Amino acid sequence: MKKFGLPFVRSIFVCTQKRPDGHPIPCCANRGGMALRMELKEMVKNQGKDKEVKVFTSGCLGACDHGPVAVQYPDGEYLLGITQDDLPEIFEDLMKD
Ligand code: FES
Repeated sequence: MKKFGLPFVRSIFVCTQKRPDGHPIPCCANRGGMALRMELKEMVKNQGKDKEVKVFTSGCLGACDHGPVAVQYPDGEYLLGITQDDLPEIFEDLMKD
């Protein structure tokens, strides 16, 4: 194993977990997780910050009832129930130095 410092300042993991139709536990894919991730990634790229800020997809982050869910680092914050209207605020947080 090798260890080294991350080459980016901030990262966000957006849950895009998909469960089969009819599954009793909700999933972020059915609540728009992928579209939110793609739009946020595009916002970062358009700002020219895609080398410093990474917008990753993620499997289940353990808060399925509150999806779509994301986790942001280095703040270590859970973002729950994300909507399209939240993206500007999330983007601003990602742009912090
Ligand atoms: S499916 Fe997204 S947090 Fe569990």
